[in-house]
Amino acid sequence: MLLDKNFKFIDLFAGIGGFHCAMDKYSSGKAKCIMASEINPDAKKTYENHFKMNVLGDITKIEKSEIKETFDVVCGGFPCQTFSKAGMQKGFGDPRGTLFKEIIRLAENEDLSKQPKIMILENVRNLITHDNGVTWNTIKKALEDINYNVIDTPIVVGPKDFNIPQLRERAIILAVRKDIYSGEIKLDIERKKNNCTSIYDIVDADLPEEEYKNYRITEKEEEALDAWNAFVKGINLTVIGFPIWSDEFGDERDISDLPEWKQDFILKNRKLYKDNKRFIDQWLKKHKIRSMIPTYRKFEWQVANKIHDVYDGIIQFRPSGIRVKQPTESPTLVAMVHVPVIGKYRRRITINEARKLQSFPENYDFTGETKFNAYKQLGNAVNVEVIYQVFKKFMDFLDKNVKEN
Ligand SMILES: C[S@@+](CC[C@H](N)C(=O)[O-])C[C@H]1O[C@@H](n2cnc3c(N)ncnc32)[C@H](O)[C@@H]1O
Repeated sequence: MLLDKNFKFIDLFAGIGGFHCAMDKYSSGKAKCIMASEINPDAKKTYENHFKMNVLGDITKIEKSEIKETFDVVCGGFPCQTFSKAGMQKGFGDPRGTLFKEIIRLAENEDLSKQPKIMILENVRNLITHDNGVTWNTIKKALEDINYNVIDTPIVVGPKDFNIPQLRERAIILAVRKDIYSGEIKLDIERKKNNCTSIYDIVDADLPEEEYKNYRITEKEEEALDAWNAFVKGINLTVIGFPIWSDEFGDERDISDLPEWKQDFILKNRKLYKDNKRFIDQWLKKHKIRSMIPTYRKFEWQVANKIHDVYDGIIQFRPSGIRVKQPTESPTLVAMVHVPVIGKYRRRITINEARKLQSFPENYDFTGETKFNAYKQLGNAVNVEVIYQVFKKFMDFLDKNVKEN
C-alpha cells in the first residue's frame, strides 16, 4: 500500500477541518495531522476544540522550519484567486501573490523523497473554467513544476453523488509525486442518480419545542409565504419559467433603456398580470404585497409541476426574492442569510442538520459557537464524505496502478 493507515498529513486553509475528518475516516482515526493552518479565529477555535490540537494562523507567516516532521499528504481547500495573465504569457504559470503559492512553498523539498506523496485540493467548480482556463492551467503547471503528476481536469463531484441531499458541486484536484506514479490519473467514481435524494433523510422531524423556536420562520416571513402560496394556487405556474416580480404587475413605465434580459422578464410579468388581472388585483390587496419588503415581493418557483404548495418545498429568502425548490435536496449551504427553510416544518435547517448535510461526524460540537458562526463555518467547509470517497478512490487507484507502473 502506498500509504500506511498511520500516514501524516497537513491541513491548509483548514476551516473547521472537513479534510481532517475525511482523513480520520479513511484511516479509522490512525492518520496524524502534523500541522493545520487557518486564519479565521472562530473557525480556528472550533477546529482546536474538536481535534484537540493547536492550529497555526496566517499561512503566509508560517516558516517551513515550524513543520518539524515530513508528511505524506497535503490537504487544502484554498481560496480561489485570479492568477496574472502576464505571468502565463511569459511562458510560465505564475502563482505569485496568491495563496495557492503557499501550498507549493510548504510542499516543496530539495530532497524529493521527503516531499509529500499525495495532494488533495478542493475549490469551487468554476475554478476549471475561471479566466478561460488560465487559473487551472497555472495551478496544474505550478504543481508539475515541483514534481507532481496532476489529474488532467479536476473531478467535479458533490454530496448528491453519494446520496447526501445537498447540491454542492466542487472541483477536486488530485496529484501524486511523479516518481511514484507518472501515468494518467483516471478515477471511476460511482455516482448515484440525480434526484434520488430527499431532504427529509436528514431532517429531525421531532425537534423539541425549545429548539424549534430558535429556527422557526418569523411572522413576516410566514405572511409572505402564505401570500405566495395563494398565488401559486390561484395561477397555473407550472408553465412559468421566469421570476415573478410583483412590482411589475400593473406598471407601465418605459423600460427601453434596461438590458434585454430584464426587459424580457418585465414584459412577461406584465403579460401575466394582464392575463390574470382580476385574481392578481385581489391578491395584491388581500396580502398587502405592496407594503412587504422588496425581497418578499419577488418569487421564483423552481419546482416545475412536482409540487403544488409552497410549504411542500425547500425555501430560501434571498436578496433576489423568495425561491422555492423541490425537497429533493438542500441548496448549497453558504451562510446565515441563505439558510434553507423546510417548508413542511416552517423552520430553517438546524445546525445539526447542516452538519449532516456536510457529513461532519455526529460528535462534532458547535455548542460554543453562535448560530451565525456555525452556519458560516459549515457553509465554508468541504463535504467530508465527498473528500473521503474521492481520496479512497484515488488511493485504491494508486495501489492498483503503482505496482503495474
Ligand atoms: C474554502 S475555506 C476551506 C474550508 C475547509 N476546507 C473546511 O473544511 O472547513 C478556505 C479557508 O481559508 C482560510 N484562509 C484564507 N486566507 C488564509 C491565510 N492567509 N492563512 C490561513 N488560512 C486562510 C479562510 O479563513 C477559510 O476558512
